[in-house]
Amino acid sequence: MTDRLVLKGQTLTFTDDPFRVGPEAAVAHQSDGAVWIEDGLIRAVGPAEEILERAHTASVVDYGDCLIAAGFIDCHAHYPQLSMVASYGAQLLDWLEKYTFPTESAFADADHARAAAGFFLDQCLRNGITTSSVYATVHPGSVDAFFEAASARGLRMGCGKVLMDRNAPDALRDTAQTGYDQSKALIERWHGIGRNIYAITPRFAPTSSPAQLEAAGALWKEYPDTLMQTHLSENPKEVAWVAELFPEAPDYFGVCEEFGLAGPGAIFGHAIHLTARERAAIRDTGSAIAHCPTSNTFMGSGLFDMEGLRDCARPVAVGLATDVAGGTSLSMFATMRAAYEIAQLRGYSLHPAKAWYLASAGSAGAMRLDGRVGNLAAGMEADIVVIDLASTPLIARRMAGADSLWDALFAQIILADDRAIRATYAAGRLVFQGNTKDQ
Ligand code: GUN
Ligand code: ZN
Repeated sequence: MTDRLVLKGQTLTFTDDPFRVGPEAAVAHQSDGAVWIEDGLIRAVGPAEEILERAHTASVVDYGDCLIAAGFIDCHAHYPQLSMVASYGAQLLDWLEKYTFPTESAFADADHARAAAGFFLDQCLRNGITTSSVYATVHPGSVDAFFEAASARGLRMGCGKVLMDRNAPDALRDTAQTGYDQSKALIERWHGIGRNIYAITPRFAPTSSPAQLEAAGALWKEYPDTLMQTHLSENPKEVAWVAELFPEAPDYFGVCEEFGLAGPGAIFGHAIHLTARERAAIRDTGSAIAHCPTSNTFMGSGLFDMEGLRDCARPVAVGLATDVAGGTSLSMFATMRAAYEIAQLRGYSLHPAKAWYLASAGSAGAMRLDGRVGNLAAGMEADIVVIDLASTPLIARRMAGADSLWDALFAQIILADDRAIRATYAAGRLVFQGNTKDQ
C-alpha cells in the first residue's frame, strides 16, 4: 500500500542559490499550490489544481493561506545544553567552565540523556526544524539516547560524541584512544542506520591533544561519509589560546587542516575571527561554516562577515545554526532575525530569500544533504514545515500591508516565533501539530 498525501497552501521552492542568481530567479512561489507526498518523498510541487488532478486518490490536508516550505535545518546545536539556555554574564571560556561543563556532566546518566534528547527533538519539531547537526557529550550513551529518540520520530539527524581529552573536568575527559574507539563503535552502531548520520566531533582545538585530533582525522579517513564538526574562531581569547597551544600552526584553521579535519562534510561552528588565509583555506578545502548568530550576540563573540564570506565572488559554504544553548533560541525565525541584525551592524542587509536559503538548503549543503532535504521539490525527502503567516494579531496586521512575497517573508523573519508553526512533517508523517485555529 502506498501512502499518499497532498498538502495544500502557498508553496516555496528554491530553484537556485539566491546569493548567486538573486532572489527573483532563485525562488518558485505558488500562492495556490500543493505538495504531493508519496512513501515519505515529495512526488511533485505545483499549482493545487494540477496536483489534485494528478494525485486523485490521495488524502488532502488544506492549510489555506499557510506557507508550506522545506523543514528548517540547523547545522550546529548542542542538545545537552538546552536546559541551561539563557545563562547570565559570561563569554565563551568562562561560560564553558561555569555553566556548560557542569551541565554536560549529568549526561553520564543514560536516563537523563534520554529525557533530554526527547525534549530537545520535540522542541526542534515545534520550531519546524527537521534536521540538525548535533553535539552530544563525551559520554557514548548520550549519542545512543539521541539517535534512539531521533529514530523513534523518524528524523534525519546528525550527532556525535564530543571528543575532549584535556582542559576539561576529569569527569568529562576521554583519551585519544578511548575517544577513537567509542566514536568508531558509535559509527558502526548508528551511521547510515535509518536516517541517522554520525558526526565525528572534536569539541574544539583547546580541549583535544594533538594525539586526539590526529585520531579524529584518522577516523574520518576510515569513514569518509560521516560528518566532522567542531568550533572555530568564535572568541578572541579562544583564538589566542589556540595560538599558544599550537605554536607551529599557521592559524586556528591550520590546526584542523594539519590533522585532516577539513574538507567537504566538515562543519566549523562560528568562524568569526578569521585571517585572509583561513577564509581562502576554508573555501578551497570545501569545508562549511555554521553561522550561529543568536549565540554570537548573546556571548558577545563578534560579528560574522556574511557579505565577505558568502555574498561575494568566491563564496564559502555557509549554513545557519541555533548553537543552543550558547544560542538563545530554537526558532529559526529568531536565528534568521539575528543573522539579519548582525549583518546590519556590518553595513550589509541580508535579504529574506538569502536568510531562508541558509536556514534550509544552505545548512543541508553544509551537512552534504543537498538533494535529500532542505528544499520543497520533487524527489526530496518529505520533511516539511507549514507556517501560519498571521500567527499573532500584530503579524496579521503587518501582513495586511505586505506588498510582496519578500516583504511578507521578511516580516515573518523579524516577528514570528514558534506560534507560527502550524505543522511539521518528517518523511511525510505529521510529527508536530501547532495551533489549529480556523483559516
Ligand atoms: N566552543 C567549545 N565548546 C563550545 C560550546 O559548547 N558552545 C559554543 N558556543 N562554543 C564552544
Ligand atoms: Zn556550539
